[in-house]
Amino acid sequence: MKTELLVTGISELVTAEGAAARHGRSMSELKIVKNAAMAISGGRVDWVGARGEWEGEAEATLDLGGVAVLPGLVDPHTHAVWAGDRLGDFEARVAGATYEEILLAGGGIRSTVRATAAATLEELVRLANPRVEALLRSGATTIEVKSGYGFAIAAEVAMLEAIAALAVESKARIVATVLIHLPPADAAERPRYVEQVCGELIPEVARRGLATAVDVFVEREAWSVVEAEQMLVCAKKHRLAVKLHSDQFHSIGGVELGVRVGALSVDHLEAAGEAQIAAIAASETVATILPGVSLHLGIPAAPGRKLIDAGAAVAVGTDLNPGSSPLFSCAAALGLAVRMNGLTAQEGIVAGTLNAACALGLSDRGRLEAGCLADFVVLRGADWRELVYVLGANAVREVWVGGRRVVG
Ligand code: NIG
Ligand code: FE
Repeated sequence: MKTELLVTGISELVTAEGAAARHGRSMSELKIVKNAAMAISGGRVDWVGARGEWEGEAEATLDLGGVAVLPGLVDPHTHAVWAGDRLGDFEARVAGATYEEILLAGGGIRSTVRATAAATLEELVRLANPRVEALLRSGATTIEVKSGYGFAIAAEVAMLEAIAALAVESKARIVATVLIHLPPADAAERPRYVEQVCGELIPEVARRGLATAVDVFVEREAWSVVEAEQMLVCAKKHRLAVKLHSDQFHSIGGVELGVRVGALSVDHLEAAGEAQIAAIAASETVATILPGVSLHLGIPAAPGRKLIDAGAAVAVGTDLNPGSSPLFSCAAALGLAVRMNGLTAQEGIVAGTLNAACALGLSDRGRLEAGCLADFVVLRGADWRELVYVLGANAVREVWVGGRRVVG
């Protein structure tokens, strides 16, 4: 059998190996094949190895000219669908107000909820398209997108429908997550909202296949551990995966809950301490860190180095959203994780590929091995480290999804 396409002229092909998330020290173990070639058929990788070792036949050959190739990046955490802007928040924060103060005063996320709930599906898709296109151009071939700015159950469903429409239009692969973001402002209405989430939203999402996971924001200004547990347990009953926004500002038990319920990932972790680091490290839950938030809000960087040293599997996402992380580059998120969270360049690649795929429960991507999706990035240069080194320009020359060039 002939392979459809043999890609040659690869100075270095860099990939993590194996389908399981890499923990601790094994996050440094990248396979680097010099003078490599990659065979592709039917949108998947057939074979990867040194050019000189290729013995098969190919219908076509493409010479990239001596540049580095890596797996397509996976952005495991975005809020790419929103309306309105948060430029007023940004100005207020620069002048000294905190993110939490703005939120408590009815602004912040609540202002984005008002704007998003008022937008039509077409507007939401039109606004989101260039955002995911920017992530794609930065190397992201799979992008998770959350709801969470709808609030009312019908508006959450409408957001998920917008994400589904976006998935049809986008050249990137889109993975939808339901985010149970903020509780009702009136505390007396919280139990009823939880009932609606469990009795209406989650069953509808599961029935219609609108998302593969449910995420809950556990924080002093958001949901308690008890409330979150109710909703996450309900999600699992409906065979949806679970994940949490946890320990962003305060450590109130979200990490411990996530580990207890077998979350795919616990995300943020800027306020996580030694006990939380140890709990994650002893589990299969991926620690997803989001350096764009620390940069934009000026809060501490999540303890990426400590998490890896303790044996955790760390992933990195952009958390693209208007309030806490207007970061439109997946490659830049990795570059920031190396500089701000103490990851090595090798660990950054694993965190942005294999471990990020595992944070979404996906085992067919985030690595370039036989049988995996032929999703990959071609850099402008010959050295793979440029992906995390370059700031403010794009180290990515081409992006391929399913064996087809979609950028470059
Ligand atoms: O991941 N922490 C809560 N949610 C988002 C921010 C959303 C927003 O500010 O609009 C986050 O940081
Ligand atoms: Fe987020």
